[in-house]
Amino acid sequence: MHNDVTRRTFLAALSASTAGVLTGGLQKIVAAASASTSKSEETFLLGGDVLVNRLGFGAMRLTGEGIWGWPPDRENAKKVLRRAVELGVNFIDTADAYGPETNELLIAEALYPYPKGLVIATKGGQTRPGPGQWEQNGRPEYLTQAVDKSLKRLKLERIDLWQLHRIDRKVPVEESLGAIKKAQDAGKIRHVGLSEVSAAEIEQAKKVVPIVSIQNRYNFTDRESEAALNYCQKEKMGFIPWAPIGGSGSRSLSKAGNALEAEAKRHNVSVVQLALAWLLQRSPVMLPIPGTSSLAHLEENMAAEKLQLSADEWKRIEGLGRPHGIL
Ligand SMILES: NC(=O)c1ccc[n+]([C@@H]2O[C@H](COP(=O)([O-])OP(=O)(O)OC[C@H]3O[C@@H](n4cnc5c(N)ncnc54)[C@H](OP(=O)(O)O)[C@@H]3O)[C@@H](O)[C@H]2O)c1
Repeated sequence: MHNDVTRRTFLAALSASTAGVLTGGLQKIVAAASASTSKSEETFLLGGDVLVNRLGFGAMRLTGEGIWGWPPDRENAKKVLRRAVELGVNFIDTADAYGPETNELLIAEALYPYPKGLVIATKGGQTRPGPGQWEQNGRPEYLTQAVDKSLKRLKLERIDLWQLHRIDRKVPVEESLGAIKKAQDAGKIRHVGLSEVSAAEIEQAKKVVPIVSIQNRYNFTDRESEAALNYCQKEKMGFIPWAPIGGSGSRSLSKAGNALEAEAKRHNVSVVQLALAWLLQRSPVMLPIPGTSSLAHLEENMAAEKLQLSADEWKRIEGLGRPHGIL
């Protein structure tokens, strides 16, 4: 069922005008890959029982300037969410701090009642004094009410994946996660994840509550979290790279002068598509959540799911991301 859907929607994506120029390149690579490499897994079993398609969607960009307030075009933002689901996304990342609150509300507004199998991963533990400003709050009583409020805004009885947005250095992590364990025991949370953590911090957290995933910044040119990723792969935990295409600033992989440009041109695909394909093939536990407010970019990004690199191509590209000692 899922494969039929993704194949159909992929063809739709290819026929869309935005992807039109890329069609030849993608088809060529898919054909070459089926002859030379085994296809990487399209799905991942989060926490052993929640099946997600590995290429997800990050909803944070569906807010106003500074990740603050409602998106300037709310109707378009809802279309982006609905189209993401049509294109095969069943893993959407959000946080109570995006907006704040508006991002969770928007997801419910666009998608509730939710299609079967849709996994909404939210986060708590950061507050927003103003646009572009983020502060940590890991106090147990704060997190307890944050979970309740997310449940209400998302119109859920249980959150499939709740992630501690940041460890609050002012509060022992055992206390923060103790509150989350209680929420899990009460049936409000199915699985727990962390964000921006090291392998040692995962180990520490696991003493309080089972941890099924982490969300760290990671992309083709930013591999600071390589050790944490390797830990997740060993432990079969989900690794959710945020800013998988470099975010919105100067490090965006869509900016001219990117090291992948020549390789992307050679394959007649976009740099963003090549970077996402590279990421998906980096590890079977990799669950990228590229974000966009643009329907055209969404179509382009989702088409990358079908772009398969041969082992040699993947290795060649791997080397291009390390020219300035980024690792
Ligand atoms: N855990 C954390 O601390 C944390 C931090 C940040 C983000 N996140 C999560 O990670 C998700 C992704 O991170 P992110 O949004 O910072 O970075 P990203 O997904 O790497 O990049 C998003 C930016 O790239 C642009 N873009 C998307 N597709 C494009 C394309 N095909 N061509 C050109 N530009 C394109 C978007 O602009 P357009 O809207 O114009 O397409 C947007 O500005 C977020 O939505 C959020 O869920 C988590």
